Amino acid sequence: MSPHPLTDALQLLPLEASTGVDVWQLELAHLHELDDTVNAQLSADERLRVKRFANPAQARLWAAIRACLRLLLARCKGCTTQEVEFSLGKHGKPASQGVSFNVSHSGSVGLIALSAEQPVQVGVDIETVSLHRDVMELAALVCTADEQAALSKLSDHELPLAFARMWSRKEAWLKAHGVGLGFGASRVNVGFEMPTRVVEVDGVPDTATLIDLPLTAQAQTRARTRAPEGGSSVDAYVGSLCILQPTSPDVG
Ligand SMILES: CC(C)(COP(=O)(O)OP(=O)(O)OC[C@H]1O[C@@H](n2cnc3c(N)ncnc32)[C@H](O)[C@@H]1OP(=O)(O)O)[C@@H](O)C(=O)NCCC(=O)NCCS
Repeated sequence: MSPHPLTDALQLLPLEASTGVDVWQLELAHLHELDDTVNAQLSADERLRVKRFANPAQARLWAAIRACLRLLLARCKGCTTQEVEFSLGKHGKPASQGVSFNVSHSGSVGLIALSAEQPVQVGVDIETVSLHRDVMELAALVCTADEQAALSKLSDHELPLAFARMWSRKEAWLKAHGVGLGFGASRVNVGFEMPTRVVEVDGVPDTATLIDLPLTAQAQTRARTRAPEGGSSVDAYVGSLCILQPTSPDVG
């Protein structure tokens, strides 16, 4: 990639070339004093959206990811960042002519998945591993019966990571299809085993490719100061990528 102070902050994750998809990771900590550079890439609407975030860290991450996305798309299309145009799918998935992409943000880390060469659809998701969630209560809402049974065999120590991995795979699948949470996460069977097992949707085998992303070591093991009295804490991030071929069924 041609050098740019902003895209220099991106880290390309090591995926097999045969996926035909690039996934970039961005960390807030790598964005010191780049606010003007970020703002210069955004549209007027996007700058207004940044101002509406209540949380300054979320605003910075959102702005930086959108600015990097514009830079990456502009490079693929051979245009300027201001000439990049977005449209929205039926359930709000952003798209841009000729390139398939998807983004995700969580805590202080964001991901951009992008495929310019292959006629595929991509979905990407990053999740924090939260130690303060009642995992089984959530699992009852969003997991299949098989997934709940598998989770119930795990120790309290193993549950948070297993659930985060499962949830991240489900969201990546939902986002690749562009359907979002309204589709029903409990219809998608992904499990948490490594490597990812075959996806089933409504009990029927599915052809999507799901990949557990090799996030940077720092993101996988990060320890953040615990908030007192049950506040959320983050010990690690997990991320997933879903790739759909043009022959994949339209579920939306
Ligand atoms: C897509 C969705 C699952 C992402 O939720 P999230 O985990 O909070 O957020 P993430 O950071 O991982 O992803 C957000 C990005 O996903 C993309 N996105 C938005 N809607 C999408 C969709 N339907 N499919 C795929 N990607 C979508 C956007 O690029 C968004 O980032 P942006 O705001 O910078 O443009 C969620 O917003 C959703 O379900 N949206 C669809 C609306 C819907 O069906 N709502 C029903 C709620 S019950």
